[in-house]
Amino acid sequence: MPSKQSKILILGFGTVGQGFFDLFTKKRESLGLNDVTISEIVDMKYGHIVNPKPDVIGEIATGKTFPPKDVISTIKESDADIVCEFTWLDLKTAEPAYSHVKTALELGKHVITTNKGPSALKYKELTELAKRKGVKFLMKGTVMAGTPSFNLLDLLPGAEVKSVRGIMNGTTNYILTSMEQGKDFSTALKEAQELGYAEADPTNDVDGFDTASKITIISHILGWNHEFKNLEIKGIRKVTPEQAKEKTKLIAYADRSTAYVRPTKLSKEDILSGVSGVMNAIEIDTDTLGKIYAMGPGAGRTQTAQAALTDLMRIVRSTTH
Ligand SMILES: NC(=O)c1ccc[n+]([C@@H]2O[C@H](COP(=O)([O-])OP(=O)(O)OC[C@H]3O[C@@H](n4cnc5c(N)ncnc54)[C@H](OP(=O)(O)O)[C@@H]3O)[C@@H](O)[C@H]2O)c1
Repeated sequence: MPSKQSKILILGFGTVGQGFFDLFTKKRESLGLNDVTISEIVDMKYGHIVNPKPDVIGEIATGKTFPPKDVISTIKESDADIVCEFTWLDLKTAEPAYSHVKTALELGKHVITTNKGPSALKYKELTELAKRKGVKFLMKGTVMAGTPSFNLLDLLPGAEVKSVRGIMNGTTNYILTSMEQGKDFSTALKEAQELGYAEADPTNDVDGFDTASKITIISHILGWNHEFKNLEIKGIRKVTPEQAKEKTKLIAYADRSTAYVRPTKLSKEDILSGVSGVMNAIEIDTDTLGKIYAMGPGAGRTQTAQAALTDLMRIVRSTTH
């Protein structure tokens, strides 16, 4: 497939940034993206990398750094038409990602992000800005990484969504699965931290904020516009091993009138009750098909990079057809 010449600027070169660089480099030719290049990367630790070499990840692994540069100036001075925002998450202010996304959109650049901050907290403002500027603001990686979730609806023209329900946080699902085997919450959390599934500060995951940001994003995409700050959010700290054994899962739910995150006891017949470990799953109830399901990983280097690649293809297709 022929593609229009495009340049990509990556903001944040950590797990997802490097994963995306690798995946893009591997898949570029087979996707017909020979005219698309990653022309710049800017990162707090590694600096500003112009025309990165294919082995840039090897270079930084040896300790090489590049001249530091402020992210906002980089966006303003860059001739890239696509900006990938992969910096830190802040679910209170959405910064610094919010300013990054806003600056890029104001300059008429497409934005791809995996960062839930701007998507959950500033969705309306940023999507309206993108629309005004005639560019895309895409965020597949914010919900279930590259596993199809809300984007399944692109395949179902006219389908009306009645409700969405899911297990959207691998860390808490891993903890609850361990608790099913009799471990208490603290032991299961410690194990998740040792395996790298949970952060040193596990609040965002175990108190339900990460899951809440995801159901908020879905609710905005569906036009239900439930606000993050108004959601009922209950985490898993008080779930007992007995409740976990009875298939209590951290469920995110939304329909037009309500949205919440809370531990919920599921029946054995419920497909979501069989989702274990770090796996994520979503149920979308539609007027045409009834309930449809998708299950898969919700995080990880390549898994999240797949989401950004999916968004990139959407931009490339929209600009070449
Ligand atoms: N990893 C996953 O599986 C996953 C899945 C879904 C969504 N996400 C989201 O994707 C985003 C990136 O995640 P990640 O796992 O790649 O995080 P990460 O490994 O911590 O990488 C973030 C990178 O961005 C840099 N950075 C942070 N703030 C910056 C700023 N203001 N200016 C320039 N560089 C900045 C960091 O620099 P330092 O190294 O100096 O801190 C780091 O190199 C996050 O919002 C995360 O929530 C991640």
